[in-house]
Amino acid sequence: MKNSHWFLTSALVFGMHASHAQRKTIAQKVDSVLRLMTLDEKIGQMNQYNGDWEATGPITRDGDKQDQIRRGRLGSMLNVTGVEHTRQLQEMAMSSRLKIPLLFGQDIIHGYRTTFPIPLAEAASWDLEAIQNAARVAGREAAAAGVHWTFAPMVDIARDPRWGRVMEGAGEDPYLGSTIARARVLGFQGKKLGDTDAIMACAKHFAAYGAAIGGRDYNSVDMSLRTLWDIYLPPFKAAEEAGVATFMNSFNDLNGIPATGNAYLQRDVLKGKWKFKGFVVSDWGSVGEMIPHGYAKDHKEAALEAVSAGCDMDMESRSYIVSLAALVREGKVKVEWIDDAVRRILTKKFELGLFDDPFRFCNVQRERQQWNNPENLRIEEDMAKKSIVLLKNDHQLLPLSKDTKTIAFIGPLVKSVRENLGFWSYDWADDSARVISPWDGVQGKLGSGSRLLYARGCGITDTSTAGFAEAIDVARQADVVVLEIGEARDMTGEAKSRSNIHLPGVQEELVRAIVGTGKPVVVLISAGRPTIFNYTADHAGAILYTWWLGTEAGKAIADVLFGDYNPSGKLPISFPRTEGQIPVYYNHFSTGRPARNDSDVNYVSAYTDLPNDPRYPFGYGLSYTRFVYSDLRLSAPSFKPGGTITATVTVTNTGSLEGRETVQWYIRDMVGSVVRPVKELKGFEQAVLKAGESKKLSFTIDVEKLRFYNDKLQHIYEPGEFRLFVGGDSQNVNEIPFSLTAGR
Ligand code: BGC
Repeated sequence: MKNSHWFLTSALVFGMHASHAQRKTIAQKVDSVLRLMTLDEKIGQMNQYNGDWEATGPITRDGDKQDQIRRGRLGSMLNVTGVEHTRQLQEMAMSSRLKIPLLFGQDIIHGYRTTFPIPLAEAASWDLEAIQNAARVAGREAAAAGVHWTFAPMVDIARDPRWGRVMEGAGEDPYLGSTIARARVLGFQGKKLGDTDAIMACAKHFAAYGAAIGGRDYNSVDMSLRTLWDIYLPPFKAAEEAGVATFMNSFNDLNGIPATGNAYLQRDVLKGKWKFKGFVVSDWGSVGEMIPHGYAKDHKEAALEAVSAGCDMDMESRSYIVSLAALVREGKVKVEWIDDAVRRILTKKFELGLFDDPFRFCNVQRERQQWNNPENLRIEEDMAKKSIVLLKNDHQLLPLSKDTKTIAFIGPLVKSVRENLGFWSYDWADDSARVISPWDGVQGKLGSGSRLLYARGCGITDTSTAGFAEAIDVARQADVVVLEIGEARDMTGEAKSRSNIHLPGVQEELVRAIVGTGKPVVVLISAGRPTIFNYTADHAGAILYTWWLGTEAGKAIADVLFGDYNPSGKLPISFPRTEGQIPVYYNHFSTGRPARNDSDVNYVSAYTDLPNDPRYPFGYGLSYTRFVYSDLRLSAPSFKPGGTITATVTVTNTGSLEGRETVQWYIRDMVGSVVRPVKELKGFEQAVLKAGESKKLSFTIDVEKLRFYNDKLQHIYEPGEFRLFVGGDSQNVNEIPFSLTAGR
């Protein structure tokens, strides 16, 4: 009997009876494998370990893992990359009884070999095609290195810049976040899973991780279900609709139930209401973390809670591998749950083509070809340019002329190399030669008649001003000063919450010292999150927010500084004036005592010492040219359900340079059965306009754009009065009323 099983499996796994096997659907194939599996082997598929070795060292430091692979007790590994390494481990899996291939997962958050701008920066481009392309390149490079699966995109809405992981998402808005979630899933997964340039994407962290109280990472989340459905779930739904292969649950509890053990989220919503067919992986150790949460008394109870709630794979907590079999034997865990989880995981392995050829992602030529692919760098540079946001440009200080005689380039980040890569990026040994520093980028642009002077001024976190004198001296010799300041790459990311998000150290004092020279000052701010820099905002002549831009950072910065690219980025998140204003976001509710303006503080909802609005609002970003909005019209003042209204607006480039504007459409529901936001983004479009050119843009309103979750969590629209807004950011808008009348 054992032998016949063995033969049957081998035939199935390796396609020896290919013609027969190919006629079977994946579901049938999965079932035939499942029938052969012991309970331990099934639980093995639900188990994932970290790779845990050095690239040049032994395969793994933990012999137990190798042994478990050979015994079919491991379904997946993370942080295992490179054709050679993945092949070695896959060979081990091929010596297991059923030869079920391993899945290799990795955090490819913004690039693999080629590092792209951090996700929040990419979101500032509002350019869905560019964002999809960036994910496409990342997927292609990773797939060529033996990776099957990225733990991205992170689609968590983030309204709190103290939270370090704000850098990993698409900012504060559910609509923008949803469109970007979709673009990233499509980018990573390519035409279809199974292509050797496609990897599985993973929508994370399900759910509401971005709302950690106080912006402190891993903290609790307490929110109404309406807010969950209206604000935090839409990007997950968009990822699911785009066909995302997997979901990751999260570290936080949601209203007292850890997301990892949350049956409402995973069983009722994701697998029930949304009919998600992929699988759910836990976050790192999050099954076991239900013990310190005080939600499970030990690993066994944690395994029970997680598996009951619909978490299919246990990343690194070993709760499943240690406890699930006993829980099944004791009748506490239904074997159907195990089968369902394993079916989901095996389905993805089949879809990836790993049962046909477990080594299909282990091709050395492909790996080499993607390793230093110039086309990928070109796409990166394009993405980086589009991510930069022009926050200020008094008297058209920018763009600089390439013939400027003397430019002083000052600051701790000017000659930075690895800082440009940001958090969640890989350090390759040759990075210092590959990554274009801002200094190299700018130098590459200047003609032979120009001089570029340098002074560091201070370090990123320095408290000493000892370097200021040299910086001032250098500034005095220049026609214009470009200062580059900001955060170090490890200041914003996972577990990098900060209560103080002002620019670190004495950097703003350096700005003050240089402004004191009377020279025109351009400031570049490189950071992973919205930071606070009020002195700079008030006194610098021009400010470019350059985030962490990736491998070609220096080139992109130089392109924008000298006008080879006219900046087009728009903030995907509000920038606060100070921490006390957080959370500050554009789509807030109106109160019963709204303030009329900044000085209106008398018994209204306002701070007595601070305006309500942020320093820079959501959607904000300037251009070297100017766009004027006019002639906002509606095809009709009202419509009925089933009908539509078309709005049109004329956008004119009144400046002297070609530019790209992101035209943003917002709606407000004036009266609702629940209080509604003062504005919600419902659409946007990018228009490239030549100097003097006008374009008429249109936007269609239907009831889908008016839906929201009411107090019974029904996704409804209500007849009544609305306002439509259009503009280049969420504050500076033209508006027009319309109404929805009842009945068809
Ligand atoms: C993070 C996840 C990540 C995982 C694996 C966790 O700490 O929260 O986003 O995918 O580690 O590296």
